[in-house]
Amino acid sequence: MKITTLLCGLPLAAAFPGAPVPSTIEKRADDIFNATSVTGAFVAVLDAVEDVAKAAVKKTSPKVVSKHAKFAGWKDFKANGVNLGGWLSLEKGIDPAFFNDNGASEAIDEDSFCAVLGKKECGRLLEQRYASYFTEKDVDIFASYGVNTLRVPIGYWAFMPAIAGDNYYTGGQLSAFSALAKYAVNKGMHIIVDLHGLPGGQNGLDNQGKTGQLEWWNSTTHYTETLKLVDLATKWITKQPHKDQFTLGLINEPLPYLYQFGQVDWSFDYLNKYYTDALAQIRKTTKTMPVMFSDGFSGPQTWDQWWANSTQNIVFDTHIYFFTGGSYSYDAPYGACYLAKSYQVATNPVFIGEWSIQASEFNHAGDDTRKVFFDSQFSAYTTFLNGGAFWNGKHNGTNIVGDDGTDQTFYWSWQKLASEGIVPKAGETVQTLC
Ligand SMILES: *[C@@H]1O[C@H](CO)[C@@H](O)[C@H](O)[C@H]1NC(C)=O
Ligand SMILES: *[C@@H]1O[C@H](CO)[C@@H](O)[C@H](O)[C@H]1NC(C)=O
Ligand SMILES: *[C@@H]1O[C@H](CO)[C@@H](O)[C@H](O)[C@H]1NC(C)=O
Ligand SMILES: *[C@@H]1O[C@H](CO)[C@@H](O)[C@H](O)[C@H]1NC(C)=O
Repeated sequence: MKITTLLCGLPLAAAFPGAPVPSTIEKRADDIFNATSVTGAFVAVLDAVEDVAKAAVKKTSPKVVSKHAKFAGWKDFKANGVNLGGWLSLEKGIDPAFFNDNGASEAIDEDSFCAVLGKKECGRLLEQRYASYFTEKDVDIFASYGVNTLRVPIGYWAFMPAIAGDNYYTGGQLSAFSALAKYAVNKGMHIIVDLHGLPGGQNGLDNQGKTGQLEWWNSTTHYTETLKLVDLATKWITKQPHKDQFTLGLINEPLPYLYQFGQVDWSFDYLNKYYTDALAQIRKTTKTMPVMFSDGFSGPQTWDQWWANSTQNIVFDTHIYFFTGGSYSYDAPYGACYLAKSYQVATNPVFIGEWSIQASEFNHAGDDTRKVFFDSQFSAYTTFLNGGAFWNGKHNGTNIVGDDGTDQTFYWSWQKLASEGIVPKAGETVQTLC
């Protein structure tokens, strides 16, 4: 399969506008453009889903009422969540205008944004963004739909200075986060601090902040830095006024090799060591704070061989996307139902930390496929699992991904979907194809 898109909705063709660029950026873009295949458990699952979806009997099941109870531990919680991606941690695909209109069109991610503009200018622009991309007004909109969970991606550099060789800016990320989290918790929301970019880079994708950097694995230096990061994040959380309404997510989308969407023996071992050490360290500070592990695109039930029925207050984060792997917008809902049911065998809580409604084929706005796809995923993840968080709260991506010429915002922007009547309101009944 030829890869044409990256996770979190950044199409490769848009990642690199072609202007003269510093050689390191050029090299990283080359590595990505030249990738021709993705492999791993995630892709195998999507292939299986495609078969299941094709065989599925297209019958609508009874309506399911959406649940929006306040957080009181992951075991009984049903998250109706959104992600605040592209706010405290930049992704070009979410808001290309922020790069293009600010003289950084050749930059491809947060690190190169700061490399291109210089720390002073990048800091000035980022501070403006912390104050404006997601605000209390946005939280009000989310709250009016019964959203009870915000997952907030944040890079290591918000908690500690950029390590040598990285160009990240450390500034007002945490004070902006603290203020908005306080406001959101007062509206009944739970907050997930999602460590999205770790020292050294854990997935090589642009979403971690520095495209192509994949040095987190097997590096004792970065391991030590990461445990320090976890300690800083834990202590920051315990100082928040509503500290009981926070979960700490230890890692986002770890990939042992570029485009290996799944784990191998050594990477399972490495992640397990990290989860074990991080958890032990966190428990020195707080006995109660929920800790979120990523399943690393291997299926949450895979982790039962090490963590079955854990009493440590952990929850697994797994991401379900259909925009790669050959799924069609009209049968992807069956795939979502199938996956959600199959993940039910996992013995720990399972949260779908990212999902969207772009399929790899037949995306369009003219009929009810987007509503059915949204409702079926929303319903499947809250009925069979512990809910999820839509990626992304807002999206300003300009790439055309629909066969009717519609751009990414029609499939990735929760706020746009809400304004179109596709996001169900609190208490509304939803149609599910499960
Ligand atoms: C990909 O690799 C080839 C050589 O193998 C190179 O000529 C080309 O510039 C690279 N980058 C892109 C974007 O194709
Ligand atoms: C990491 O270390 C393991 C051995 O413990 C090795 O098998 C694996 O290839 C290493 N991976 C990388 C990316 O260096
Ligand atoms: C986990 O708990 C379930 C339900 O109580 C039980 O059926 C299962 O055997 C347990 N698994 C392990 C590995 O302890
Ligand atoms: C970005 O997306 C949001 C949500 O759809 C929208 O309200 C806003 O106007 C967009 N911003 C720009 C600059 O287009």
